[in-house]
Amino acid sequence: MTIKQLYVAGAGLMGAGIAQTAISHGFDVTLREVDDNLVNRGVENIKRRLDSLVQKGKLEAAQRDAALARLHPTTSLEAAGRADFVIEAITENFDAKRDLFKRLDGICREEAILASNTSSIPVTRMAAVTKRPDRFIGMHFFNPVPVMPLVELTRGRDTSDATLAATLELSKALGKTPITSLDYPGFIVNRMLVPFINEAIRALTEGLGTREDIDQGARLGLHHPMGPLELADFVGLDTHLYICGVLYEGLHDARFAAPPLLRQLVDAGHFGRKSGRGFYRYGPDGARLAD
Ligand code: 3HC
Repeated sequence: MTIKQLYVAGAGLMGAGIAQTAISHGFDVTLREVDDNLVNRGVENIKRRLDSLVQKGKLEAAQRDAALARLHPTTSLEAAGRADFVIEAITENFDAKRDLFKRLDGICREEAILASNTSSIPVTRMAAVTKRPDRFIGMHFFNPVPVMPLVELTRGRDTSDATLAATLELSKALGKTPITSLDYPGFIVNRMLVPFINEAIRALTEGLGTREDIDQGARLGLHHPMGPLELADFVGLDTHLYICGVLYEGLHDARFAAPPLLRQLVDAGHFGRKSGRGFYRYGPDGARLAD
């Protein structure tokens, strides 16, 4: 199957990152958000990132312009009717994804593949709300999408071999290295990452060290680019809490239970970098502030 036209639903951090990656690799991308403000914000973020690559001499201005010409922002769901491949990257919430996939299933061409960027929701459960569970797959990207080389593919119970093969091919065409996971809670990466972040939060709660000690420990002792508390802020504490819930519900293992401090920060509206405060404080540009 030749995939040329992509439709990305959701222009937040992940959706915009996926769209940027795809237009930079020659795909035509329709990027959809629910209103003009949100879609424009996504497009502005993509432009800013591409401009910065031009300023750093990593991209020609003409290449940036050609990439942006392949980006088609929209608020229309019906525009998905032209797509060969749809990637859903909306909020990590089953009800919202279910409603969207039901509608997309009615709009998309019969042969189009539907993919979800979910980090934790069972792919089989989402596929089952459509009439095309054989053409449905999990396609989990990592933040920041243009930089992180991995994509984690998950077959639902009825995903066909042809769908997996087409998605593997697309992943490589997007410059990513795919791995495949069974449809188990958290798939492969979050199965490892969630207990790691949770343990760091428990260590902080128990006073084992300061937030800086804990993050330095992972950065300098394990060679991680970010410590677990910084990374939790980067992913979003609300998102991490949601993923903990899915893993705990699916696996009933205390390692995945949300630490009380995480819940308290989310209750307080401290969602991490995106809200300006989490384990650390951030300015409007996302840069860390001293406090
Ligand atoms: N979008 C696009 N590009 C970005 C970016 C963003 N949000 N943030 C940084 N970059 C690019 C920069 O432009 C720069 O590109 P260049 O090398 O071509 O100039 C490069 O990344 C490095 O950026 P910086 O020099 O500004 O900063 P760092 O060297 O500190 O790197 C980082 C920033 C890439 C974010 C690095 O800290 C990192 O790799 N952190 C860990 C990220 C990670 O683990 N992500 C996975 C999260 S888990 C997940 O997403 C799954 C979900 O289900 C929870």
